[in-house]
Amino acid sequence: MCGIVGYIGQQDSKEILLKGLEKLEYRGYDSAGIAVMNEEGVHVFKEKGRIATLRETVDPSVFASVGIGHTRWATHGAPSKVNAHPHQGNTGRFTLVHNGVIENYVQLKDEYLQNVELKSDTDTEVVVQVLEQLVKQGMEVEAAFRKTLGQLKGSYAIALLDKQNNEMIYVAKNKSPLLVGLGDGFNVVASDAMAMLQVTDQYVELMDREIVIVTKEVVTIKNLAGDLIERSPYTAEIDASEIEKGTYPHYMLKEIDEQPLVVRRIIQEYQNEAGELEINADILEAMNEADRIYIIAAGTSYHAGLVGKHFIEKMAQIPVEVHVSSEFGYNMPLLSEKPLFIFITQSGETADSRAVLVHIKELGYNALTITNVAGSTLSREADYTLLLHAGPEIAVASTKAYTAQMAVLAILADVTARSKGLMQNLDLVKELGIVANGMEVLCDAKEEMEEIAWQYLTTTRNAFFIGRGLDYFVGLEGSLKLKEISYIQAEGFAGGELKHGTIALIEDGTPVIALATQEHVNLSIRGNVKEVAARGANPCIISMKGLEADDDRYVIPVVNELLSPLVSVIPLQLISYYAALHRDCDVDKPRNLAKSVTVE
Ligand code: F6R
Repeated sequence: MCGIVGYIGQQDSKEILLKGLEKLEYRGYDSAGIAVMNEEGVHVFKEKGRIATLRETVDPSVFASVGIGHTRWATHGAPSKVNAHPHQGNTGRFTLVHNGVIENYVQLKDEYLQNVELKSDTDTEVVVQVLEQLVKQGMEVEAAFRKTLGQLKGSYAIALLDKQNNEMIYVAKNKSPLLVGLGDGFNVVASDAMAMLQVTDQYVELMDREIVIVTKEVVTIKNLAGDLIERSPYTAEIDASEIEKGTYPHYMLKEIDEQPLVVRRIIQEYQNEAGELEINADILEAMNEADRIYIIAAGTSYHAGLVGKHFIEKMAQIPVEVHVSSEFGYNMPLLSEKPLFIFITQSGETADSRAVLVHIKELGYNALTITNVAGSTLSREADYTLLLHAGPEIAVASTKAYTAQMAVLAILADVTARSKGLMQNLDLVKELGIVANGMEVLCDAKEEMEEIAWQYLTTTRNAFFIGRGLDYFVGLEGSLKLKEISYIQAEGFAGGELKHGTIALIEDGTPVIALATQEHVNLSIRGNVKEVAARGANPCIISMKGLEADDDRYVIPVVNELLSPLVSVIPLQLISYYAALHRDCDVDKPRNLAKSVTVE
C-alpha cells in the first residue's frame, strides 16, 4: 500500500505530483505529502487526511521543478502529520518517501541511530536517518544509498531528494511496485503508470534490488553492486478516460455498470478467428498435466476462486483446492504430485499472494496468474498469465474484477475440458452473452436496489447473507461488499449451517438476504429462510426467474445456473452501494482500507 510519485523537469512539479497522488489514492489515503526542491532548498508539505486536504496546505508561490510525493496507508505509526511522508534526516539534507515495510528497522535503529533522535514512529524515517549517518561518515551519496538499501529487509519503493543536488532523484525498489516514466526534457517516478499518464505513456519497469538515478534527461538503472542495467521502455496501454469517473458520482457505480461490457470484452479477447474460445497452448498443457489445482487468492479474489473451483471441477474434472493466501504458508496442505498453482489477483501486487508465489516457485512448481494488471509483479513472476481485460478498477471495493475473474475462470475450465475431450453441454460464448444481457438488466434496476437498501439496511447493525452451493459463495462476496463500504456487520453463511449456531444471532428485524438461483437447492434454501423468519428475521429473497415464489423481493433474469454468480452478485453490489450511500459512507475510499495490499 501507499503510493509514491516523483517529477524532475522544467515545469512546476507541485501540480503534477498532486494530480499523480490523486490517481494513487486507491493505494492508501490516511495522510499525504510532497517535497519539492529548488535553489532555496526543500519545501515539505504534509497533512493527515486526503490529497484534497494536502492541496490546501501547499504554498502556491513556491516554484520547484523537482519533487516527490506520497499517499499513505499506515503500517508503522498512526495516521498523523508527523508520521506522514516525506521524512527527513535530522540535518534536513535528505528527504525520502517510501512504500513498503522495513522489517528490520528496530535493528537498524540500534545499530546506526543510538544517538539520533527520531521524529516519527515510522520504519521509513530510519532509512533516511541511516543514510544521513553514512554520508556524515564520509560516504558518497550514491554509495551510501546503495549501502543503506543493502541493509534493508522487507519491501520498499523509495524516492529520495538530496538538498545539495537538485539535478536528480534517487529511486530504488524491492518487492513494492515502481516505474520510471520517460518524457521529453523531464522524467517521472510512480507506483503505478496511471499516476503519470497525465504526462507520459512511456515507462521503464524496475526489478527488485535495483536503484535508479533519474535526471530530467537521463534514467540510469543499476543493481546494488553499482553495475549498469539497460532496459527498454514500454508503452502503457491505459486509456486515460478509463480512469476518470465521468458523470458517475462514484467509481464503484461506474465499475458496476461496466460489467456487461467487460464480459463482452473478455469473450472477444479469448475468441480466436473461428469464434472459438482459446487459451494459450502452454497454459492448456499445464492444466492438462496437473493432477490438482491450488487456487491462491485474498478477499474478493478468493471468493471468485471458490466459484472457479466449481467451474474447473465440473467442466474440466480436475480436483481444485482454494486457499486464502495469507494462511497458505501456515496451513500448507500436502501437495499432490503434479500441482498447478493459480493465483487470482486483480492488482497483481497483493503481498500475501506474492509470498506464496515466491515459495512455490522455490519448490519448483508452475504458476498461472489471473490478473487485471499486465506487467504486475504476480504476472511477471508466474510462468503464465491470463488477463481480465476489465480496465482499471479504481474503487476500493472490487466489482468488475470479481465478475471478470469468474468469466476468465469459466473460459479456462471450458477450454481445458474441450482439450481433454470432455463433452460440454454448454455453449460458453452464447451463455456468457446471455450473462452480459442479464447484467445489463440488473444494472438498470438501480431504483429497486436502492429501495431494498432503504428497506433492509438503513439502520441495521448487522445483516446476513445465505445461500447454498454457488449462492453461498456469492453470499460471502455480498457480505464482504456490504461490510467494507457500509461498515454494517455482515456475514455470509451456507444456508444449512445457520442452525448449527449462527441462528442464535437472529433477532426481530435482522435482515437476511437469501439467494435462490440453483434449482437443486431452491426448496432447501427457502426452508432456511422460513427458519430465520420464524425467529423474527426480515428476509429478502433474490431468486432467478423460473425458481421464484410470490414473496421474493427481486427476481434476476435467467442465465445458465453454473454462471449465475456473475449475475446474482450485481444486486448485492448495488444494495451495498446504496446502503453505504444512505449511511453517508465514503463509498470509493472506505475507512482503514487500500486497494492494493502490498504488505503481508
Ligand atoms: C474487496 C477487495 C479485496 C481484494 C483483496 C485482494 O472488495 O477488493 O478483498 O479482493 O485485497 O486483492 P487482489 O485481487 O488485488 O489480489
